[in-house]
Amino acid sequence: MTYQNILVETSNRISFLTINRPDKRNALNQATRDDIQHALDALEKSTDSRVLVITGAGDKAFIAGADINEFEGRTALMQREAMKGFRVFTAIEEFPKPVIAMINGFCLGGGLELALACDMRIASETAKLGQPEINLGIIPGGGGTQRLTRLVGEGKAMELILTGDAIDAAHAKEIGLVNSVVPAADLRTTVVNLATRIAEKSPVALHMAKDAVKSAARMSLREGLERELDLFCLTFGSEDKAEGVRAFLEKRKADFKGR
Ligand code: COA
Repeated sequence: MTYQNILVETSNRISFLTINRPDKRNALNQATRDDIQHALDALEKSTDSRVLVITGAGDKAFIAGADINEFEGRTALMQREAMKGFRVFTAIEEFPKPVIAMINGFCLGGGLELALACDMRIASETAKLGQPEINLGIIPGGGGTQRLTRLVGEGKAMELILTGDAIDAAHAKEIGLVNSVVPAADLRTTVVNLATRIAEKSPVALHMAKDAVKSAARMSLREGLERELDLFCLTFGSEDKAEGVRAFLEKRKADFKGR
């Protein structure tokens, strides 16, 4: 399948979804969101694909936010209507396979919100991250106030959202916004190595683990512990669990099939 604004390629169980509007710093317009929606549908079904990496084309930007051209002339009702349907960041958060944001440059506004919806964030030393919506007289509307606050705490989230200032990758690492920071030249290798290690695990267990960890932000501790217990027991119904336990006892590497 070919798309207008994204590139999708899968090899060795790892899929790369690249936002491909480098001249516009990979800003997310509606057509790009539609492409992402279709790609997520296809990748969810693909048994060849076990880990998804999202990145931006070129060496300047991951994603420089929502396409500001689409905001001009929009009334509140028009914007509400435009955001009524499919929510791309929620779809990424709920995607059943692990998703890694490979942050290769400007990661601003909706770009940071997309990265926050991913499961892990690996940044190049050149990355700049921020929620600059306040400079346009608006606020984050794709989860920035919620997911950022949960990840880095209220004080840091307030600072980023109220000032609109972008921070560098080292600072982002310091506040827990990104998992790790590597030189730009090493970014892809680092992410492929991480994705490869995860892709060897049981897809069933990965899905359950992701669901359980995400439950921490959605539920009370009591509900979250119940959810974890249910998902833990559910993994006992998989062929992968039988294979993982047998492989350990036979002192060999497990070959997980995702069943
Ligand atoms: N929406 C639409 N177009 C965008 C964009 C966005 N969020 N971010 C960048 N672009 C476009 C620019 O308008 C410019 O288009 P043009 O060549 O047709 O004039 C092109 O991308 C290159 O941008 P430019 O500003 O010249 O690049 P830069 O490398 O000097 O700066 C940024 C990059 C990301 C710092 C700067 O473009 C910027 O501040 N973008 C807006 C970020 C933002 O506010 N995002 C939140 C939106 S809610």
